[in-house]
Amino acid sequence: MNLPTDQHGAIREYLSSLIDCTPVRALLDIGCGEGVDLRALSEHLSPDARLVGIDPSPAAVETAKLATRDDPRFLFNTADLAEGLPFREHTFDAVLAVNVLESLRDKHALLREIHRILVPGGQLLCANFDWDLQAFVGEDPVLVRKLLQGYQEWQQCWREGSDPWMGRRLWHMMQQSALFTGRIETYVLVDTEYLPTRFGYDQVHAMEQLITHGHIRAEDFERFDGELEQLSARNAYLYAIPLFIYVGKRKD
Ligand SMILES: C[S@@+](CC[C@H](N)C(=O)[O-])C[C@H]1O[C@@H](n2cnc3c(N)ncnc32)[C@H](O)[C@@H]1O
Repeated sequence: MNLPTDQHGAIREYLSSLIDCTPVRALLDIGCGEGVDLRALSEHLSPDARLVGIDPSPAAVETAKLATRDDPRFLFNTADLAEGLPFREHTFDAVLAVNVLESLRDKHALLREIHRILVPGGQLLCANFDWDLQAFVGEDPVLVRKLLQGYQEWQQCWREGSDPWMGRRLWHMMQQSALFTGRIETYVLVDTEYLPTRFGYDQVHAMEQLITHGHIRAEDFERFDGELEQLSARNAYLYAIPLFIYVGKRKD
């Protein structure tokens, strides 16, 4: 699949295509951040649908509220998923959770809460990147592996309970819960240019923090960064990461 310039926009469009929007009158985005996914989805939903987003970050919620202040369909609030979902049972026709489960300690508690607030037969879309499956081309495969391993180790201590394998574990987790019936879809984000604002570039530059945390050496990072720039200039650069998506329905 060729990605348009807005890589996140392309993912949002793909996620929207996996939801049957026609019957949805109330949709909840868990860990909505600044509400960008909800805004993209709103274009596919009925004009009288309610779009609700929750996130623990007051700054993100404030941004989401500002961006939608003229549209009464949206409601954003701060909430910590670790404390359950602040809604009555059978409130939503659809629930979205994108790149959120990876950072929750008790993932099954959240699934039970999602089941409680969904209407019978309500739709659930849970998506997560598998950070350990990031593919970078590079001149030195040993160095690439070393950097990726440092990234996983760092990610795990940076975010307590964070799981870089959340993507590949989604299916088993949903099966174990026995609360939903569904399937797994995938979306592979692919970059062929090593440039600021591209997803792969941003991931590499997030790795720069590994230097101060002692996981990698500054000269290794600089060598890798330089190699990727050269590969990109020769049209030989490629980065890819798979997003695993559980597309399901609440079992009654
Ligand atoms: C990687 S971002 C994903 C944001 C958005 N869903 C997206 O895909 O663009 C993870 C989001 O989960 C939220 N989050 C992390 N822990 C949370 C918790 N305990 N309760 C609610 N949201 C949480 C963060 O604040 C952040 O907005």
